[in-house]
Formats: sequence, C-alpha cells, structure tokens
Amino acid sequence: MSERISVFGTGYLGATHAAGMAELGHEVIGVDIDPEKVARLSNGEVPFFEPGLPELLRKHVDSGRLRFTTDAREAAEFADVHFIGVGTPQKKGEYAADMTFVDAVIETLAPLLTRPATILGKSTVPVGTAARLAARVRELAPVGDDAQLGWNPEFLREGFAVEDTLRPDRLVVGVDPANPGRIEEVARRVYAEAIERDTPFLVTDLATAELVKVSANAFLATKISFINAIAEVCEATGADVVDLADAIGHDARIGRKFLGAGLGFGGGCLPKDIRAFMARAGELGVDQALTFLREVDGVNMRRREHVISLAGELMGDLPGTRVAVLGAAFKPNSDDIRDSPALDVAGKLHLQGATVTVHDPEANANAKKVWPTLTYVDNVEDACRDADLVVVATEWTQFRELDPTAVKDMVKHARVIDGRNCLPAQAWIDAGWTYRGMGRLAS
Ligand code: UDX
Repeated sequence: MSERISVFGTGYLGATHAAGMAELGHEVIGVDIDPEKVARLSNGEVPFFEPGLPELLRKHVDSGRLRFTTDAREAAEFADVHFIGVGTPQKKGEYAADMTFVDAVIETLAPLLTRPATILGKSTVPVGTAARLAARVRELAPVGDDAQLGWNPEFLREGFAVEDTLRPDRLVVGVDPANPGRIEEVARRVYAEAIERDTPFLVTDLATAELVKVSANAFLATKISFINAIAEVCEATGADVVDLADAIGHDARIGRKFLGAGLGFGGGCLPKDIRAFMARAGELGVDQALTFLREVDGVNMRRREHVISLAGELMGDLPGTRVAVLGAAFKPNSDDIRDSPALDVAGKLHLQGATVTVHDPEANANAKKVWPTLTYVDNVEDACRDADLVVVATEWTQFRELDPTAVKDMVKHARVIDGRNCLPAQAWIDAGWTYRGMGRLAS
C-alpha cells in the first residue's frame, strides 16, 4: 500500500531515503531549509556523489512520486508519515552531538500537525532524545496525542546507500511501550516490501533503538582500531597485518569484514558518533563504561601521524619535497571529505613543508573548500609528475589497478606509501618501488 511520506533533510541520508521510499511505491516529499539543494533535487540533480542515486532520483522526480520543497507546511499537509533525516554533527569544541537541526524540525513540524501523524526519527541521536521529542511533539501538535514519534535508526553506508535503503539487513523501530500507538503498524506498512523478504524487523523501546545505532557504530570503529593497534605491533615486529587479518577472519566469531588495517576510519558518522556516545555516557554517569572508546579514537588518529612519520623516514626532511596524495574522500565511491583521513594526511604533509598535489576522482571540489592551499589535479599523472613520494590514501579502484611501471615513469623517486593496503605490494616492489604498507612488509 502506498503511503504519503515526508523526509526532512536531504543530505546523504535524507535524499537517499526519500528516493528509496519513492522506489518502494510511496508518494514522497523531501524537505530542506536550503533552497539551492531543493532546486537541484527538484531538477533531478543529486548535490553529492552516491552511486545509483541520480538514476533513482530522476526516475521518481519524473514519475511524479517524488518532489522537494523548503515549505514544512506543504509536507505537513501532504504526508501522514514524517521521517527526520537531518544531521547531528559534533558540537564545536565538544564531543557531544549538536541537536540544533533535529530540534528545529520538531519545533517547525509539530505545530503544523492538525491530523493524526507519525514521525519516525532516523538521525543518530544521544540516547534519551526520542523520549524528549515524543513529549514535545504531543505538547506542540494541535492534534495532541495523535501525533506520535518513534525512532527508526538508519544503518546505510555511503557508497552503498541506495542498496542499503532498498535492501536493509535489518529494520529497527523504537516505540514507547507505555504509549505504543500506531507506530509499529505504520512502520510495517512503509517497509512492507522488505518485511515480506524476511528482513528482520525488530521493535524495541525508544532508548534501545537509539542505542542500537551508536553501539553498532562503536563496534565497527572498535573493530577497525583493533586491527590498526595490531598493525602497530606488526610494524614493530616485521609481521604482516593483512595475513594476520585473513587468518583471524576465518574464525566465524571474528569475521574478516572491517579488519582492513590502514589509515583508519573517518567520515560523517563513526568519529563523531563514538565521541557523542562517550559524551552521553558521561552525562548518564557511566563514562567508565565507554572509556575504551577514547583509546579507539586515539589508535585511529595515530594512523594519520604514522603516515607522516613514514614519509619523513623515506625522504628525510619534508620541506622541498613533492608528494602526490591519491585520494581525498574518507572512503572510495564517495565525495565526502568529512573527517577524512586522506585529506588530513594531505594537509599535515603540506603543513610540514611538502608540496602536496591531490587527486581524487570525486572529492577534489569538496576538499578544496576545506584545504584551499593544496593543489588539486584531475588525474593521476598530473598528481604524480616529478613526485618524491606517492601516498595512496583512499582505495578507489582506479588506484588499486594502477600499473606500477607506468606510474614509475611519472615520478622522480619511486617511493609509495600504501595507506589503505590496497595495492598489490609485490608487483610494486618488483617494478622497483620502495613500498611501505600499513602494518605490513616494507621493502
Ligand atoms: C558507517 C556505518 O558503516 C553505517 O552503518 C552507518 O549508518 C554510518 O556510518 P560510513 O560512514 O558510510 O558508514 O562508512 P564505513 O563503510 O563504515 O567506513 C567508515 C570508515 O572506516 C571509512 O573511512 C573506511 O575507510 C574505514 N574502514 C572501514 C577501515 O579503515 N577499515 C575497514 O576495514 C573498514
């Protein structure tokens, strides 16, 4: 059955969710306070890079099932189900999450709800937020208790956002057990297609739903930092962390996924989510429970420093050297440079006196806004020309597949740091390169 849905926020999460809901057969209106974003999306243009999304967006803007507006009133009049997909960035100078955007949606939307409506929050929020917002909605909505709020965390990965939205591995819906209302029933209708495919559908209380999301991200961050900590030990002993991860990954209890040692995690979620989780635990008086996340964060940030010291080891003093940094996005198939380890490394090398040329297939424009003093080029050849060192910082397929002999002809000195352990090391060594991986062989 087709539902009338609104999605507040049209970033990576909101725009994908809106298009995904239209693909599932619903009628959707996306809402954003940024008129430029709304204008572009209305023209079928995605303002960021996400594979598969432009096609889906265009399809449903053309079919008339998907439109965008800056007017919350239009959304309130049109839709019965309202998703919140706005950002919860890290507060400036603090670990806690900035709730300004989520709060603003509630303060704007709730007073416009004059008939029964369901709000489903998707944004990642500190535990306790949903209960607070549910009460606020009842207080502000003219329809009173018939305006209900549940929490439906989003687990999509950038780069796979469309796939994850259309075929999620699980659905979680948090409701207030004392006041469950129609929330579960509405969510079951919205996600009927996935539920029919036997996608696990878990109904929890509000706090559990909020915690599911941050715990999942904290676990993933911990897994990455675990292998990066082991990489440090490998570096001190000559062991190979990639072989090690393969071997421990065969244990089904451990699993090989997210044991990719390298420059560590970045992006708009993992770093800020573990910090917000620690901040919230502190407020709840259980800060000790999450003290280990400080170490997770610390190990992660050390990876970036490690690449800088490797560069120094390979070249001596950095001033006067030319470094090609391949990659600026926090991961491949994305143009997102939020807390990107790649861009951080490029910037740090520059600050230490190296002349840094960056090439990323999609993220150059975003990177330039944050680091305008670096040089950005459109291809590998321009980046590597006369370089004393090449740093592979994001594992784009086109970098993985580079021909080491061809790249050798571009550079001045054949030295490479494989910041993502994504190159065929032996082939590069055989082609005459001095190769440094992360927690693995050096030659
Ligand atoms: C993450 C969660 O995976 C997703 O479920 C949640 O909804 C949002 O946050 P995302 O930020 O898109 O998704 O990226 P993810 O694929 O998790 O990668 C995060 C970072 O970890 C990237 O910088 C990636 O390069 C790094 N990473 C990942 C590693 O360093 N090693 C790995 O083995 C895996």
